[in-house]
Amino acid sequence: MIMLGKISDFEKLQNYAMTFNEIRILLIHSESGFHCIRDNCGHFGVSLANGSVENGQIRCPVHGICFNITTGAVENRPWENCEQLKIIPLIEKDSAFWIDALD
Ligand code: FES
Repeated sequence: MIMLGKISDFEKLQNYAMTFNEIRILLIHSESGFHCIRDNCGHFGVSLANGSVENGQIRCPVHGICFNITTGAVENRPWENCEQLKIIPLIEKDSAFWIDALD
């Protein structure tokens, strides 16, 4: 498993971008809690680290596609050819957040 950090390190409601083995992930602390995704927009693969989070969605800063941060589903579709986000299960253990190894 990979430790992301102590839960207390992520107190602010914001996005926390990290990279492991050249794979970008994003830990999102939203009003609905914590969520973890592969940090690649399903449209062009850009980072969502600067995406706004509201009402359970993250909005890509490039073209504005909104993804559900729990399921990864596309919830508006201003552009074609967009895949849903890849959700990473978040594990809480010993007051820290962990994820399984990435592939
Ligand atoms: S690159 Fe994210 S919506 Fe187009």
